[in-house]
Amino acid sequence: MQHEQLNRDHLDEQVSRIYDLGKQQQEYEKRVINLIASDNVIPAWRHTQSPYKGDMIQEGIVGDRPFAGAAFHNKIESLAAKIACDVFGAEHAILQSHSCSQANQAVYHALLADGDTALALRFSAGGHLTHGLRQNFSGRHFRFHHYGLNDSGLIDYDALRELAVDVHPKLIVCGSSSYPWLYDVHALRSICDRVGAKLMFDLSHEAGLIAAGVIDFPVAAADVITMSLDKTLRGPHGGIILCKANLASAIDRAVHPGTQSSFPIRRLTDAAAALLDTQTLDFYAYAKRALDLAEVMAGEFSLTSGLVFGSGTQKHYVLLNTREAFGIPGQVAEVRLEQVGILSNRQVLPSDGSARMSQASGLRIGTAWMASRGYEALEAQKIARLIVDLLREIHSNTEASNLVQKLLGVAREADCLHAHEPLWNFR
Ligand SMILES: Cc1ncc(COP(=O)(O)O)c(C=O)c1O
Repeated sequence: MQHEQLNRDHLDEQVSRIYDLGKQQQEYEKRVINLIASDNVIPAWRHTQSPYKGDMIQEGIVGDRPFAGAAFHNKIESLAAKIACDVFGAEHAILQSHSCSQANQAVYHALLADGDTALALRFSAGGHLTHGLRQNFSGRHFRFHHYGLNDSGLIDYDALRELAVDVHPKLIVCGSSSYPWLYDVHALRSICDRVGAKLMFDLSHEAGLIAAGVIDFPVAAADVITMSLDKTLRGPHGGIILCKANLASAIDRAVHPGTQSSFPIRRLTDAAAALLDTQTLDFYAYAKRALDLAEVMAGEFSLTSGLVFGSGTQKHYVLLNTREAFGIPGQVAEVRLEQVGILSNRQVLPSDGSARMSQASGLRIGTAWMASRGYEALEAQKIARLIVDLLREIHSNTEASNLVQKLLGVAREADCLHAHEPLWNFR
């Protein structure tokens, strides 16, 4: 009895602690400007108007399930996949992956055998850790070679072609967490055709911008595309794989039973709703704003010599070289901004030559959250100016914190996320 009582007290304490921490986190998020490029906010109406609020899971593929009660699951999964295909102009889609990392894992499982050769953009040039970093499953199981950038900060397609001819990869991966320029898809396709490799794009970051049509992407040129649902696409956390029809069965089997078992049905319905949302006027405005704000910030940052890495951006983030401009590593810059309520993240740059984040010279500044919160160009410019002043140590922390709170006030007034908007106003 005494033991039960002790446990009960302990549980009560844990209950109040976890609720308290959750609340504190939510309050914290109201006090910060979030410039982490992979973060975003989902419009509140999408939470309340979620098509399915149940908790069932399922596994397997449509029509071949190991659990009963799948009649509606099959219809939901077929429709969600069809919506994904329609939005991106793809031949086949599967939306079961728990994340884009896991989607990448499934694609490698489908297209490569252990020890096979693949090419991908180097981590320090903007590639992702699932693109063959030694410490990641991808680098442990497959023989990844990496291509990099030329002196102008663009992917060096000539060097990539030479490397491909030299090592004969089975797969060429293109995609990035921090490469602010669009890809030359046709150059990549022709390199793949020359060496007989499959072409995979990891569009984890760009997915929402492509779905909205503010970035052009010839989906048909790729064999496989992976993406995150939760970055610019503003969906639930998870990943999508798109592929050519001739790869559909290999990709599906690589997801299940190849790399995962169950998935929540709710992810499929929320993903379908998010994908449909990308076809609305509101989403188009948000996606366009994300690009416009990044351009405005890049313009403001470029007033400081050496600060903008690669001289600009065509995406929803800007890369800063804080070591060159201010003599401080990205981590120091990140902490300095965090202290006054601006969130960003340190970024390895090609000049770092290593994947060690603690030594990174850069900082990545994203605009998806600002675009979702209804910020306009003027505020983006003010925030960029404030960042430069903070990194130059012009402002005291109190002064800068006050400015951040003022700018947050503007966002709250313009906030389109809490209105109960009508469900669909398609373009
Ligand atoms: C290019 C790229 N691929 C894959 C991922 C992994 O995505 P997830 O966090 O959904 O696993 C990221 C994450 O930032 C990314 O930038």
